[in-house]
Amino acid sequence: MMKPDVTAFFDEPTNTVSYVVKDPESSACAIVDSVLDYDAAAGRTSTASADAIIKHVRDHGLTVEWLLETHVHADHLSAAPYLQREVGGKLGIGENIVIVQNTFGKVFNAGTEFQRDGSQFDQLFREQDRFTIGGMNAFVLHTPGHTPACLTYVIEDAAFVGDTLFMPDFGTARCDFPGGSAETLYDSIQKVLSLPDETRLFMCHDYKAPGRDEYKWETTVAEEKAHNVHIAGKSKEEFVEMRSTRDAQLGMPKLIIPSIQVNMRAGKMPPAEDNGVVYLKTPVNAL
Ligand SMILES: [Fe+2]
Repeated sequence: MMKPDVTAFFDEPTNTVSYVVKDPESSACAIVDSVLDYDAAAGRTSTASADAIIKHVRDHGLTVEWLLETHVHADHLSAAPYLQREVGGKLGIGENIVIVQNTFGKVFNAGTEFQRDGSQFDQLFREQDRFTIGGMNAFVLHTPGHTPACLTYVIEDAAFVGDTLFMPDFGTARCDFPGGSAETLYDSIQKVLSLPDETRLFMCHDYKAPGRDEYKWETTVAEEKAHNVHIAGKSKEEFVEMRSTRDAQLGMPKLIIPSIQVNMRAGKMPPAEDNGVVYLKTPVNAL
């Protein structure tokens, strides 16, 4: 099987890993889960993280065919619209984005300008959809649980799991956001772990882990099956109990309010008000 060249870009402020996934036999690539830097205290965006990816793309003469989002992230803003402007590529996400748009369109009281049909994206993927990146074959696994629209992109021997699994010593993603479900996440994880043992798995996040003082984001199906602290040797019931107890103790991600508002619009800001300024809302006592 072909082995894509995978280059990781780690954003320490949000613990997010973005990837450039390149066809070893052509200049074609995809960019997975990019980050637009956001200083919430100042209400200011910057493109330093995205610019590092753009520099990599240009330095290596890459052709960006796809900008892939594993889900509507709650902890960072997507840089997809900025990347699309600079380096091109079609923007894809899971078809259940419409569920997320409906839920959060209501939470943020977005007006009729906010279409809840996924039309802000170029491609809405469904379970088992196939696509190519240059000469590489890719397919989609629908892996909901963390959110209803979560996808895993399987590109040759490499799978980009989004927020389903984390590194074996850290475990799994939370399931307590609207539309999340620990039962569903367990089933989705089994789906990922049914890929061949040697499949390389690339995480969307890493937070280090007890006893580990460096960031890591790559593992394999075999490693996760044998050692994931939330999954290995655990029944579905045990997992759901553990996940629910743990989620009840977690605080909200720092950037959840700006992130969801922007990412439900495919990374675009809400329209500017009549003074030309864009505002993000904070729903009080509603989340
Ligand atoms: Fe997430």
